[in-house]
Amino acid sequence: EKEDTVSITVVGASGDLAKKKIFPALFALYYEDCLPKHFTVFGYARSKMTDAELRVMISRTLTCRIDKSENCGEKMEQFLGRCFYHSGQYDSDEGFAELDTKLKVHEVGRVSNRLFYLSIPPNIFIDAVRCASTSASSANGWTRVIVEKPFGRDSESSAALTRDLKQYLVEDQIFRIDHYLGKELVENLSVLRFSNLIFEPLWSRQYIRNVQFIFSENFGTEGRGGYFDNYGIIRDIMQNHLLQILALFAMETPVSLDAEDIRNEKVKVLRSMKPLQLDDVVVGQYKGHTEGGVTYPAYTDDKTVPKGSLTPTFAAAALFINNARWDGVPFLMKAGKALGSKRAEIRVQFRHVPGNLFKTKLGPDHDRSTNELVIRVQPDEAIYLKINNKVPGLSMRLDRSNLNLHYAARYSKEIPDAYERLLLDAIGGERRLFIRSDELDAAWALFTPLLKELEEKKVEPELYLYGSEGPVKAHHLAYRYKVQWGDSDNEHR
Ligand code: BG6
Repeated sequence: EKEDTVSITVVGASGDLAKKKIFPALFALYYEDCLPKHFTVFGYARSKMTDAELRVMISRTLTCRIDKSENCGEKMEQFLGRCFYHSGQYDSDEGFAELDTKLKVHEVGRVSNRLFYLSIPPNIFIDAVRCASTSASSANGWTRVIVEKPFGRDSESSAALTRDLKQYLVEDQIFRIDHYLGKELVENLSVLRFSNLIFEPLWSRQYIRNVQFIFSENFGTEGRGGYFDNYGIIRDIMQNHLLQILALFAMETPVSLDAEDIRNEKVKVLRSMKPLQLDDVVVGQYKGHTEGGVTYPAYTDDKTVPKGSLTPTFAAAALFINNARWDGVPFLMKAGKALGSKRAEIRVQFRHVPGNLFKTKLGPDHDRSTNELVIRVQPDEAIYLKINNKVPGLSMRLDRSNLNLHYAARYSKEIPDAYERLLLDAIGGERRLFIRSDELDAAWALFTPLLKELEEKKVEPELYLYGSEGPVKAHHLAYRYKVQWGDSDNEHR
């Protein structure tokens, strides 16, 4: 198998994702010696470009890891030497047949494995899949296709997409990316839960009061308004990234670490979710303002966004899992663009200590004094547990302190980008971090009725200031379930 070749074709090579994520991730894998000995990278797109021009384009996107910059320049040259380009239409059998011929030249008769990364808009997915599979499939090795969301925009369109994909590919060939699954702390969730004794016994309605999944960005949809307006934050972040994390958080212990065992457990959680009520959802949209001479645009200031658009750029929701472990526990989600900070985190708030001896020492803000476990996915990765502690001294006074695992302090190695792990897994045929079609169906089944209701009733989003905390109603929603949103921006680390 050492002599097998892998050809990685990035379809949509001049796009944003390719430049920002895919090529840099491939280079990082090469640098770490993780790619197979015989590999070739092909860029495929419509624009005319020579191999040399592609290399210049890619070289601008590559960076060296701080901790390993020694022979980085040399490695870059070697990597770029393995990159080639072919120009063709996305729906052209001829274009892909020409690509096939070029791939064969590099494969020089070895067993050829082929990975296609579709980094193109959804309306041309299927054409490209058809052409790649009929005209550029491997004759003697595997052929796999990585697809990026959006996987449709509701249950029906997602099912249609799956059906169309399966005309040309079997499920095993389809690698649906949710890049949040490739993030270090999301991968670590199962390790935290299942390889430590101290968490799992507490991981249920008996000890957990609520769980929060928070995604926040401090920039708007600048430049992506055209895509975004057709989807909105619920489809962009909640239905996939946050829900996937929720599934990993809440699932039962899988039989093994095999992809199918893990995905079986995740899908059970998704199928056990209580239907989402409109009442349990808050939507918002950012508005512009000027502060200190700086003007922050409104979402609708974007030229590619239709006037009067009701598309939410913020949403908060209370979800419930109807099973024995989680019955009645609110799982709160919050996702928004153009907020005050950029972060993604999971917060687990534990119940009060029954008959707490120290209740009077905790102060009036007693509710805030329960234990809380925070898993900060990004930035500045960390896991910390808030505990009550005696302030050293002669008096009996308690305060809140953290048992803190701060990644930057504990581990010196830079954390790989999510795309590195996912690409490596796709090449290795590891499906654990990719979305199976039944998971996707269950995720859409949960959100589709809500999305339809929001759209049919033309629910107006609450406007919030660019750079603010988001809609006030998100707090009201939380209060209804006796929850206060945690906030790492204002907490002592
Ligand atoms: C993408 C969304 O899936 O995730 C974007 O489409 C969002 O809107 C991005 O900005 C966030 O990813 P990350 O890895 O930068 O947190």
